[in-house]
Amino acid sequence: MRAVCLPEQGDIDNLVHDENFPDPEAGAGEVVIEVKATSLNYHDVFTCQGMPGIKIPLPIVIGLDTAGEVAGMGPGVEGWSVGDRVLVNPLNLEKGLLGEMVNGGTAELCKTDAGQLIRIPDGVSFADAASLPIAYGTAHRMMVTRGNIAKEDKVLILGASGGVGSCCVLLAKMVGAEVVACGSTPEKLQVLKDLGADHVIDYTKDDFVKKIWELYDKPYRRAYTGGVDMVVNFTGGDTWVKSLRCLKRGGRLMTCGATAGYGPETDLRFIWTFELDVRGSNSWTVDDLEKLLAYIDGGEMKPLISETLSLQDTVKGVHMLADRQVIGKIIVTP
Ligand SMILES: NC(=O)c1ccc[n+]([C@@H]2O[C@H](COP(=O)([O-])OP(=O)(O)OC[C@H]3O[C@@H](n4cnc5c(N)ncnc54)[C@H](OP(=O)(O)O)[C@@H]3O)[C@@H](O)[C@H]2O)c1
Repeated sequence: MRAVCLPEQGDIDNLVHDENFPDPEAGAGEVVIEVKATSLNYHDVFTCQGMPGIKIPLPIVIGLDTAGEVAGMGPGVEGWSVGDRVLVNPLNLEKGLLGEMVNGGTAELCKTDAGQLIRIPDGVSFADAASLPIAYGTAHRMMVTRGNIAKEDKVLILGASGGVGSCCVLLAKMVGAEVVACGSTPEKLQVLKDLGADHVIDYTKDDFVKKIWELYDKPYRRAYTGGVDMVVNFTGGDTWVKSLRCLKRGGRLMTCGATAGYGPETDLRFIWTFELDVRGSNSWTVDDLEKLLAYIDGGEMKPLISETLSLQDTVKGVHMLADRQVIGKIIVTP
């Protein structure tokens, strides 16, 4: 089969489009899927470059989010038939993450445990399904399950135009919260407005702390009224302390990643003085993914997909993520 795999870590350009990658064979309890769509994530940049403490079996086929049709089944698989439309939950606690520890979806075929399959409702396209697990599943857990986002909340979202960020905007608007979305180009800000953001900030030009205080009552911070209720920050780096400064007394700072650096300085004074909650959120559950599929099937949500690439162009897509050129999700269709 054709597959895009990483033989060696170090650089995105190490990715290889292999025309003769061995076809996967389904063992007991496993299925092989004919991949119709897979999506790229910033995680693929980390996989190519290497992350301290994470050892990856090489070569590895990347592509964490995979949707397609069941093409073959090993012994003992029940409840599935050839041709069924399925999304793979990439999390397998025993074997590891699909597209990182186990060959993933940037290939014509992909093997997975039958227990990882989720049926795709008729009203959901393969591309929309493939945009979900890593970015949207994580956003759902962070905003809804861990963050309890509510109608009365004012929420500041950094990196709002990316995969996780754009879903955070969609979920916050679905509950009726007031959204301030940050992005780095006029094009990204326009897309965020189109998604429903109430205010947008180009944080490469304007100090987002100042903008938040202009919007939300600096003088009354100590009286519980100034600042935002929630900041979504998966960027880390020099945005961390600034995010603490935007929060209302009792506010919550949500994090699920650190694109710009995982060892930022902090400032404990803000955490105690304003009784802030710093809340981590990691990955998703099947329930998160099924809820997202239902929103899309019911017409309540439309994933933001800006690029659909061929398999050969996977490397271009991973570069776009590293270079902050992506709006929403990039889909690869083998
Ligand atoms: N814990 C989990 O389970 C989990 C799951 C999914 C993702 N994550 C993490 O969440 C983060 C976002 O993932 P994603 O797939 O949504 O990424 P993405 O699509 O690339 O979006 C990230 C956005 O962050 C902004 N950004 C700010 N500083 C950046 C920098 N130094 N380099 C690159 N982008 C920067 C960019 O928007 P602007 O250019 O507009 O600033 C970019 O669009 C990553 O760190 C990822 O590892 C964690």
